[in-house]
Amino acid sequence: MNRVHNFSAGPAILPEEVLLEAAGEMMDYAGSGMSVMEMSHRSKTFESILNETKSNIRALAGIPDDYSILFLQGGAHTQFSMVPLNLVKNGKADYFITGNWAQKAAQEAGNFISVQTPYSSKEKQYTYIPDFSAYVPEDDLDYVHICENNTIFGTQYKAVPKTGKVPLVADQSSCIFSRPFNISDYGLIYAGAQKNIGPAGVTLVIIKKDLIREELPGNVPQMLRYYIHDKSDSMHNTPPTYAIYITGKVIKWLIKNGGLAGAQERNEKKAGLLYDTLDSSSLFKGTSEKESRSLMNVTFTTGNEETDAAFIKGAAALNISGIKGYRTVGGMRASIYNAMPYESVKVLTDYMKEFERKQ
Ligand SMILES: Cc1ncc(COP(=O)(O)O)c(C=O)c1O
Repeated sequence: MNRVHNFSAGPAILPEEVLLEAAGEMMDYAGSGMSVMEMSHRSKTFESILNETKSNIRALAGIPDDYSILFLQGGAHTQFSMVPLNLVKNGKADYFITGNWAQKAAQEAGNFISVQTPYSSKEKQYTYIPDFSAYVPEDDLDYVHICENNTIFGTQYKAVPKTGKVPLVADQSSCIFSRPFNISDYGLIYAGAQKNIGPAGVTLVIIKKDLIREELPGNVPQMLRYYIHDKSDSMHNTPPTYAIYITGKVIKWLIKNGGLAGAQERNEKKAGLLYDTLDSSSLFKGTSEKESRSLMNVTFTTGNEETDAAFIKGAAALNISGIKGYRTVGGMRASIYNAMPYESVKVLTDYMKEFERKQ
């Protein structure tokens, strides 16, 4: 078996322990005589997987009962429209534009409501998170939307905006459960599981119950209503059972390894090693501004396309995989999500030093 050092931006590395456990249960899950993949979502066995995953998420992240936890499909992209369709009241929201995903979310919302963009870092190629310390949302906004970690550009909010009575909606696709957070700062969090907490196929939504409304203006399809999914306990239709099962295992793994505080400590140590290497290099340069650096996606370049290509090619020979930057941005990106071991980051930084020495 040849496992690589997997720096993919997503779908991404999963804890080896989780994969091995799932492999061991592949043919016969808990004496059921079948794989979780083959099991009815209405069975008692699957029901207990779903309920246990939900209660473990509550325990891991301190999610109180006035928030619902939903397991949906369609990725973050579907949330780009579900959010405005379900939260609309006055038909107006603020979107902070800090990268492609924030921009896409705003664009989709613009099909349904009026979108305002009080902050944007586009003029500097999204290399920083704007200073929003003076931000006060208008009282009649339906919500404020942020993309908390910008996967493509390697920037991350250090703290989220305080929005008072206006609900804060956060796309946490690439940072969910990577550090402690205060759920009361948010009205709604959404995240595709495939970077930090599981495989592709399930989208986690954590939503304050008082934002879930039965009556919505217009003809909103059943599948795009939080109310329907909440009422049916994420069982309105067949949920992504296997993805939920693996996510459940990752959540247990996080709890076992020190919870969110433990995750933050490991993530800071890994990111610290990479950023220190960048800061002491005269060849490589981090592309995001220091105060805005992401703990999850470390973006860098040599400033020369050919040298970048040679670096990526040489990495492959050392089993370092997935470090090519986003297709429209270029350079390199090392995604170091929850499951990424420190040892793999060390292999990468040793290679960076060796590559630089040989230039
Ligand atoms: C921050 C962020 N938002 C949204 C998306 C899109 O997610 P999905 O493919 O699950 O729709 C991604 C995917 O990389 C992302 O990183």
